[in-house]
Amino acid sequence: MSPPFCSVRNLSVRYGREAALKAIDLDIIRGERLAIIGESGSGKSTLAQALASLLPEQAQVEGEIAWPVLGHAPLPGRDFGFIFQDPGTSLNPVLTIGEQVAEVAKRHLRLDWRQAYAHAEELLGRVRLPQPASAMRAFPHQLSGGQRQRVAIAAAVAARPAFLIADEATSALDVVVQAEIVHLLDGLVREEGMTLLFITHDIALASGFVDRIAVFHNGERIETGPVRSVLSSPVENYTAALIASHRDLSTPPLIAQVAS
Ligand SMILES: Nc1ncnc2c1ncn2[C@@H]1O[C@H](COP(=O)(O)OP(=O)(O)OP(=O)(O)O)[C@@H](O)[C@H]1O
Ligand SMILES: [Mg+2]
Repeated sequence: MSPPFCSVRNLSVRYGREAALKAIDLDIIRGERLAIIGESGSGKSTLAQALASLLPEQAQVEGEIAWPVLGHAPLPGRDFGFIFQDPGTSLNPVLTIGEQVAEVAKRHLRLDWRQAYAHAEELLGRVRLPQPASAMRAFPHQLSGGQRQRVAIAAAVAARPAFLIADEATSALDVVVQAEIVHLLDGLVREEGMTLLFITHDIALASGFVDRIAVFHNGERIETGPVRSVLSSPVENYTAALIASHRDLSTPPLIAQVAS
């Protein structure tokens, strides 16, 4: 069997007395789309930050995270892209869209500015930003929330990272834009062969396009499995309640409706 892309063993993260993650074991398979599902405070972002070496200094960390395929902890931008809920977190308000996307490509792909700009413009087209050439010269505040998130995605994948982390990347968007962004992510991840960690509190949204689901509750990973088996026969009562509390999972997922 090929080694996992990432192997998390006995990972605990504490903030003083508060345990944000408790003895997490989790393998991320190369090329898979894995969703982390859980309510607010369950430790989802803490896991993402631990994987990205982005935990704040005051976090007390125990356990191990290994990267057998890369052979080293992934470098931001080059080995992994991170998409946040609020693209304001990752986009610089005083730089043009073009500068920001091109900068990532220039730094990690060793392109000169001209090549990096050409690459950035092509990416803006791929994330379906209308009129990529003029969007290159726009500033973040001139775009809608959905368009800004498309730019954030373009910047996250600009250096063709092997791994993409999306932490509630669509939660701030309305349902239709949310479905479009998920469809976009789905396509990009497939085309580039990326491994995706898709973090959300919305099990219905995730189940439309990921391969596996890991359910987190109070800092623990309580259940993991392929989407179909988790949805059809959840082991934990908590998971069953989560499924019951969300949008009707028997209707075709939005992602399928957008794609068709
Ligand atoms: N920097 C921090 N300092 C102190 N406590 C923190 C910090 N970051 C997270 N926590 C605590 O760790 C726990 C897990 O938080 P985390 O942000 O990982 O949850 P989450 O599942 O991402 O929630 P949400 O869905 O609201 O984003 C929470 O109880 C939170 O208060
Ligand atoms: Mg979070």
